[in-house]
Amino acid sequence: MIKSDLQPDAILSWMDGLSDPTRLRILRLVERQELGVAELCEVLQLPQSTVSRHLKVLADQGWTVNRRHGTANLYAMSLDELATPARRLWLLAREQTEAWATCRQDSLRLERRLTERQDDAQRFFAGAAGEWDRLRGELYGQSFARHAMLALLPSDWTVADLGCGTATLAAELAPHVGRVIGVDQSGAMLRAARKRAGGLENLDLRRGSLEAIPIQDGECDAALLVLVLSYVAEPRAVLKEMARILRPGGKAIIVDLLPHDREDFRRQMGQASMGFGEPEMASLLREAGFTRSTTRPLPPEPNVKGPALMLSTGTAPGNASVNKP
Ligand SMILES: C[S@@+](CC[C@H](N)C(=O)[O-])C[C@H]1O[C@@H](n2cnc3c(N)ncnc32)[C@H](O)[C@@H]1O
Repeated sequence: MIKSDLQPDAILSWMDGLSDPTRLRILRLVERQELGVAELCEVLQLPQSTVSRHLKVLADQGWTVNRRHGTANLYAMSLDELATPARRLWLLAREQTEAWATCRQDSLRLERRLTERQDDAQRFFAGAAGEWDRLRGELYGQSFARHAMLALLPSDWTVADLGCGTATLAAELAPHVGRVIGVDQSGAMLRAARKRAGGLENLDLRRGSLEAIPIQDGECDAALLVLVLSYVAEPRAVLKEMARILRPGGKAIIVDLLPHDREDFRRQMGQASMGFGEPEMASLLREAGFTRSTTRPLPPEPNVKGPALMLSTGTAPGNASVNKP
């Protein structure tokens, strides 16, 4: 860009730059929009050799800057970066060319070209739609979407992972919230959980029973009970404890098996029950004092061997909303 106002003959060089109608047309365009040579040729309806020659003059005189984008060179003019006299000269030239018919045509063709740029992007996605799921995984992996959704959680929340097992969920949650308290009665599970927890200082693992959860009343903003309810002998008692440790308006999230008839599976997995249906969950949550409960089946994943799952949510009694004030 034009840097100095001080050279006495600078005005001659700037006037020379503006003394050609094609260069004026180019400047009008690249002031509005950063453009490549091919796009300028299309808008100006001029051959590449002509456009390139004028672009070189403009770049040498500092009217334009360019940058590489992929294989293309993009040209732009920024008024802010012009020396004051050059800017004044350009503003005059722009005003005087406003009524030129060719400039109006250029302007229309530029608008069409910019619309086509958007269409190019849309065409890419239209063509790639069928391929997108595969391509997305290949290019970027799978975990980023989970991280994006976890980032929706309020970062000051305390979350209980009840029956945390090896802390798969707790360890994934911990970087996104204030504190996670994992509770489990199994020493072996907790040993594996401690290994996984490694450097996560806000993950607090406690040994205890879900029938008497070692967490104070109202200490948590949310509590998870994932693949645990079908192991407990007294689901009612556990859900009541869950409600106790939640603050008013706190959120309970339960994932467990939908009712199934695979007695061999239940025995093999050491479970106490054969899953939970919507009406049963609604009455269990209500009896535990939860309001606004919901239960829905989760879409079964392909190639999994266990029974289908359900997701229940409930809000702990009290006036506060789910989000802290
Ligand atoms: C199938 S694992 C699920 C672990 C974890 N929630 C997950 O999603 O990977 C069930 C866990 O619940 C724990 N558990 C079952 N009944 C419990 C109870 N009454 N009190 C405390 N922990 C219990 C077990 O020790 C086990 O670690």
